[in-house]
Amino acid sequence: MPADRNASELTESEAVSELARLAKVLEQANAAYHTEDAPKISDAEYDRLKLRNAEIESLFPTLKRADSPSDQVGGPVSEAFAKVKHSQRMLSLGNAFNDEDVEDFTNRVRKYLGLRETDQIAFTAEPKIDGLSLSLRYERGVLVQAATRGDGETGENVTRNARTIANIPQRLTGAPAVLEVRGEVYMSHADFEALNANQTAKGGKVFANPRNAAAGSLRQLDSEITRQRPLMFFAYAWGEVSEPLAETQFDSIKRLEALGFSTNPLTRRLTNTQDMLIHYKSIEEQRATLGYDIDGVVYKVDDLTLQSRLGFRSTTPRWAIAHKFPAEIAHTFLEAIEIQVGRTGALSPVARLHPVTVGGVVVSNATLHNADYIAGRDSKGDPIREGRDLRVGDWVEVYRAGDVIPKIRDVDLSKRPADSVPYVFPTHCPECGSDVVREDGDSAAYCSGGLICPAQAVEKLKHFVSRSAFDIDGLGAKQVEMFFRDDSLPIKEPADIFTLQQRDEAQFTKLKNRDGFGDKSVTNLFAAIDEKRKIPLNRLIFALGIRHVGETSAAMLARHYTSWENFFAAMKDAREKSGSAWEELLNIDGLGAVMATALVDAFHTETTRDAIARLVQELDVQDVAAPDTTGSPVAGKIVVFTGTLEKMTRAEAKARAEALGAKVSGSVSAKTDLVIAGPGAGSKAKKAQDLGVELISEDDWLELIATSS
Ligand code: IVH
Repeated sequence: MPADRNASELTESEAVSELARLAKVLEQANAAYHTEDAPKISDAEYDRLKLRNAEIESLFPTLKRADSPSDQVGGPVSEAFAKVKHSQRMLSLGNAFNDEDVEDFTNRVRKYLGLRETDQIAFTAEPKIDGLSLSLRYERGVLVQAATRGDGETGENVTRNARTIANIPQRLTGAPAVLEVRGEVYMSHADFEALNANQTAKGGKVFANPRNAAAGSLRQLDSEITRQRPLMFFAYAWGEVSEPLAETQFDSIKRLEALGFSTNPLTRRLTNTQDMLIHYKSIEEQRATLGYDIDGVVYKVDDLTLQSRLGFRSTTPRWAIAHKFPAEIAHTFLEAIEIQVGRTGALSPVARLHPVTVGGVVVSNATLHNADYIAGRDSKGDPIREGRDLRVGDWVEVYRAGDVIPKIRDVDLSKRPADSVPYVFPTHCPECGSDVVREDGDSAAYCSGGLICPAQAVEKLKHFVSRSAFDIDGLGAKQVEMFFRDDSLPIKEPADIFTLQQRDEAQFTKLKNRDGFGDKSVTNLFAAIDEKRKIPLNRLIFALGIRHVGETSAAMLARHYTSWENFFAAMKDAREKSGSAWEELLNIDGLGAVMATALVDAFHTETTRDAIARLVQELDVQDVAAPDTTGSPVAGKIVVFTGTLEKMTRAEAKARAEALGAKVSGSVSAKTDLVIAGPGAGSKAKKAQDLGVELISEDDWLELIATSS
């Protein structure tokens, strides 16, 4: 058997079969590591097989397979890592782009906490490292797991690789029994240059910037490669801790430093906005000589009690913000303006640019937002770019907003060709020919084709299977696009996903016999689809892709209606956009008339409604459990705050009530369970009395929720 033999003893034909075997075994090992959270072979065995593969390849270079396991090391390997659910979510940060945004942030914090403008509040300020975040879990002082951020809820297990990073301690003395340290993995400029020089010399992958190099190096299947990459780590936050590190952000970071972590030496504790902005300037001036990439300054409320009162919005903390450095600018040529039709039918113009490097990344497309933006106006009709329009053939200034999405900042009229013509926005959908409509007050223009427009239908499907929606393993945007165009086994609407297996069984040529599919991948696909028949209500609502209904609003709707039956009945009853169901919908705090209209319209457009009905028939929609409400006396109750609250701000009161499972409404009706009235409460308190709704003071409310918060 070639498997047992020394590589140097193999004949050519034995080497062929051994390379085939190794490719298969290693592929299976990767899949097990990734999907089942349970590797089938040990790390050492995995490494041994990889080495054997490389050895045979070096002895028989011409036999190297197109799908050689050696080539899979450097590629995007996220699929190959086991998933790790974070015990506490890893969040991102809101952005501030100028001094005024920072001022707004500190005022918002004060306002939320009910502090006066003159009350002092301390913030920490530190560089925002441009790398990738990592969470390190220590149990009884031993590093047991390292995970990337992933989508914030679930990351990738990169423990083996993280252990190779020189300034990450493997053991801690005097740390809490459970300690999750969070921070940034990065690569210095010098190490990045050296790595790229080395990669060029051996014909390997050359990285666009240090961040990509750090990410690519941390996410290597082979931790020996990671070990050779000079990665570094700065600790700046923490996740689960069995006991607090300290009372303030600043002291917690000092404690992490004392435990052996590298922390950023430019971290300061400051007590007013002026000083924060001065420190920002100072860091900006040092940026070029730091030796590693930073892209801004992060401010955090120092007092941890205040941090926890401030809490979080859906993906960002209220107690921190990233003050970004201004974006880098480049000049290039606008080659064409193309229109993309999105899932809601919105027509998005995109600039096709002559490729240009901005901040280390090649940019060849930029968003143009809408017709007004191209014409040089904002949504209110006020001039942008001093009213200069954009035309095909123009020279434009490009920047990367928040250093990510490329945008056009301005146009150089002195270089405009004499024969250029203003851009004319299409009046018919470029994908299906339907009329383009634009309503008063809406900056976007929409294709009126609905689901008959193939672009909308396919984009809706892509949204449907996306990570925050149905997230079906093996059925991503690419596969959906393929099935959408498939004649024998098409997926034209979401319900078709769930009838795929049944339709395949009735077919002559089975999916598993087609190119690119196999027995195993098809079995896995059908199983992954079946697994998602059980779907939480909030995910389903979000997945429907209704205009204006994002993840947060979908969650709000799900919390309010709790079951699909209630939600569906309410949408039906709200048809006339009047009456109690409509009022109830409008009254869901934070929802607004635009979204309510979009929802009701969607459920009363025949094609959409029928497609939804066909889909729901295939599903088992799970009611939503109210969050953290065990023992909460207000779970499921509809509450209204009115008058002046003295112990907390309105925003804080609302957030806490919602966290306890209450629904906060803006107006009193017969459905209201409880009105919390502070001094100066007027008509709402009166209405509550008239309707016989329970009316309590702020103190009563605090007492009521005290046991559960
Ligand atoms: S604090 C809850 N501090 O920026 C907030 N983040 O845009 C936790 N980052 O995902 C993050 N330097 O990867 C924090 N000094 C710093 C940071 C920093 C870089 C990254 C981090 C985060 C992203 C958010």
